[in-house]
Amino acid sequence: MLSCEEAGQGVPIVLLHAFPLSCRMWDHERVALARWGRVITPDLPGFGRSLRQTTPSIPDMAACVATVLDSLSVREPVVLGGLSMGGYVAFEFLRQFPRRVKALLLCSTRAIADTPEQREGRLKTAERIRRDGLESLASAMLPKLLGKTTLESNPAVVDQVQRMVLANAPDGVADSLLAMGDRNDSTVLLPSIACPTLVVAGDEDAFIPPAEAQAMQREIPGARLEIITKAGHLVSLERPAAFEEAVERFFEEAIGLTGGRAR
Ligand code: MLT
Repeated sequence: MLSCEEAGQGVPIVLLHAFPLSCRMWDHERVALARWGRVITPDLPGFGRSLRQTTPSIPDMAACVATVLDSLSVREPVVLGGLSMGGYVAFEFLRQFPRRVKALLLCSTRAIADTPEQREGRLKTAERIRRDGLESLASAMLPKLLGKTTLESNPAVVDQVQRMVLANAPDGVADSLLAMGDRNDSTVLLPSIACPTLVVAGDEDAFIPPAEAQAMQREIPGARLEIITKAGHLVSLERPAAFEEAVERFFEEAIGLTGGRAR
C-alpha cells in the first residue's frame, strides 16, 4: 500500500508527484487547496515512504493509486492531477479507471512515450544510480527540473528540491526510470478525454517545452491551458501562488467547485 498524506474534506483531489521527488513536493498545495476538497497526495511506489514494486511499471503505479483510494473509501470520481511522471501515471489511471476521474490537471507532462534512445538513456542512468547513489542524479537533474529564474534567484527552492531527491531510496528511483522508459504512448487517449482538463506549463521548462503543452491541449477537447511565467518544469514549487491561482480558477470555472479563491 502506498504511503499517503492528505488534508481537507469533500471532493477528492489527488496530486501525483514528479520524478525523482515524493509527495513532499505537494506540501504547500495540500494545505492551500484543502479548502476546495480532500487533497490526497500519495508517494508513488519506491518514493518517499512507499515500498518498491516487484515489477515496476506506470500501469502498476496507477493501479496502486486506485488501491489507495479504495483504502481511503474514496468511491466518487476524483480530480486527478499529475506533474510530469505524475502525469504519466494520471494518463494510465484514466485509461484503466475512466469512471473514477472527474477532472484532469496535467502539469509539465507529455502524452508521448519514450524514444528507444531515451529509454536506453534511462537504463544507463538507473544502473548508475544503483551503483553510485543519487548525488550525481540530483546535480544533473536540477538544471532540468528548475527554470532559469529559480536557479538564479531562489536558492531555497533549489535546496528544497535537492533535499527531496536525496531523501529517496536509490533503488526505488532507479525502478521508476525503467517504468517510465516502458510507459504506454497516451497520445491516442487525448481526443477521447471527456472530462474538464487543465494543462499547466512553465514558460522556462526546458525539459518539456510549453509548445508541447500547447500541442497537447489542442488535442484534448475543451482543455484549458495555463502557462506560468518565470517557472520551469517544477512549476508548482517555483511559482506556488501563480500555480494555485490557475488551479483554483479551473476548479471554480470548469468544475464548479466552491471553495473561495484566496486572492
Ligand atoms: C519528471 O519530472 O517526472 C521526469 O523528469 C519525467 C521524465 O523523466 O520523463
